[in-house]
Amino acid sequence: MKLPEDFLWGGATAANQTEGAYQAGGKGLSLVDLLPSKGDRMKCMVDGAFALANEGKYEFYPSHESIDFFHHYKEDIQLMAEMGFKVFRLSISWPRLFPNGDELEPNEAGLQFYDNVINELHKYGIEPLVTINHFDTPVGLVKKYGGWRHRDLIDCYVRYCNALFTHFKGRVKYWITFNEINMLLHLPFLGAGLVFKDGENKEQVKYQAAHYQLVASAAATKLAHEIDPTNQIGCMLAAGNVYPFTCAPEDVWASIGKDREQFFFTDVQVRGAYPTYTKRFFVEHDIHLEIAEGDLDILKHTVDYVSFSYYSSRCISGKPETQAETEGNVFKTLKNPNLPASEWGWQIDPLGLRITMNTLYDRYQKPLFIVENGLGASDEVAEDGTIQDDYRIDYLEKHVLAMQEAVQDGVELWGYTPWGCIDLVSASSGEMKKRYGFIYVDRENDGSGTLERKKKKSFYWYKTVISNNGIYE
Ligand code: BG6
Repeated sequence: MKLPEDFLWGGATAANQTEGAYQAGGKGLSLVDLLPSKGDRMKCMVDGAFALANEGKYEFYPSHESIDFFHHYKEDIQLMAEMGFKVFRLSISWPRLFPNGDELEPNEAGLQFYDNVINELHKYGIEPLVTINHFDTPVGLVKKYGGWRHRDLIDCYVRYCNALFTHFKGRVKYWITFNEINMLLHLPFLGAGLVFKDGENKEQVKYQAAHYQLVASAAATKLAHEIDPTNQIGCMLAAGNVYPFTCAPEDVWASIGKDREQFFFTDVQVRGAYPTYTKRFFVEHDIHLEIAEGDLDILKHTVDYVSFSYYSSRCISGKPETQAETEGNVFKTLKNPNLPASEWGWQIDPLGLRITMNTLYDRYQKPLFIVENGLGASDEVAEDGTIQDDYRIDYLEKHVLAMQEAVQDGVELWGYTPWGCIDLVSASSGEMKKRYGFIYVDRENDGSGTLERKKKKSFYWYKTVISNNGIYE
């Protein structure tokens, strides 16, 4: 069975990991602009008080220049077009449009930049897929309101969405409201700008912020449909099923609980109401949500499709920790003895993609969009200037085949945008060395390098996959 003719092949990036030009045209600071490389980076993403206390103290901030997509977008989009991209997932930087986050009108210079980018995409017939908030809430909103702990963030976000849906009406059709919305639980500063006060119940604060983001997402969905009924709005989950470590019932039960932790968000965004399992969870964690009149009605405005990132499955045991752990997308997981792992310890499980797709589709019966997938690896430029990234081709080939199997299983899938189609700054480590791209960027962890772009071996491989509309025997 072939993929549909209009299948959207492409690649994905985020403003804060590519654009640089962090103050150009009056852009305000984003949370990410406070994050250093490696060292304290993860601590800052989790601990807002620490991040704010150290503001401006680090020598190097990778997002400030990043790969300078801001000045290279024409060249970069031309390379994407050469690969045959049908879609390009980018995010819009909230503080580039609203420098403090709560202005009433968008910054013209910011709009101009995205006009240019979107025009350039259309020149090549590439459909933009826009993430509205990819980890870059304006710092101004953190300082003034305490981030998403404050209900006013809903209005600020919806005002920002209104500017986008109005300005780009007819030019952008595919939107994602929040990148990996479930990361808020693991990276409360990066995901929601949260700074905890001494002694407060962190779970309460996180789930209250989650409530506000869910209401904001639903309000944006409603607005997008009102402004242009052809708009397609997606939720976005950091996905990857959680396997039980063994068939012991305790392990199976633990895996259900861990899966629900992520599905909590999409259950609300796709089904339009809080799932029943939250009742007991909230009681046991002493969580009392403030839900304003009308919130539950707004939540009924559900998304059109379910987008997700998939890097790996995860694994959990219901017994006290006795197994070795390994790294994963942001949080650790038990090491699954059946799986190999990347240089960064992320396990490699192509069948897990098929499992995750079937799970999401069985649960929601909504079209899926894989908006992130890929292998972070350190590439070497050979003496002849080539980059032989066979390991990346191997990873992606297996995942594309698994994806095609899932489509044969009956899953409706709109598209596939592998992560970091052009090398960019790693979100978790701030490194350039952890590369995902088909396009190499000459830039090192310390910011040195010419920023020259080069085609890797995987560039040609992906071009062939797209032109064949998949991988077939
Ligand atoms: C996802 C994020 O969590 O994973 C991206 O949406 C991120 O922003 C990607 O870059 C890969 O993670 P990392 O840490 O390898 O950059």
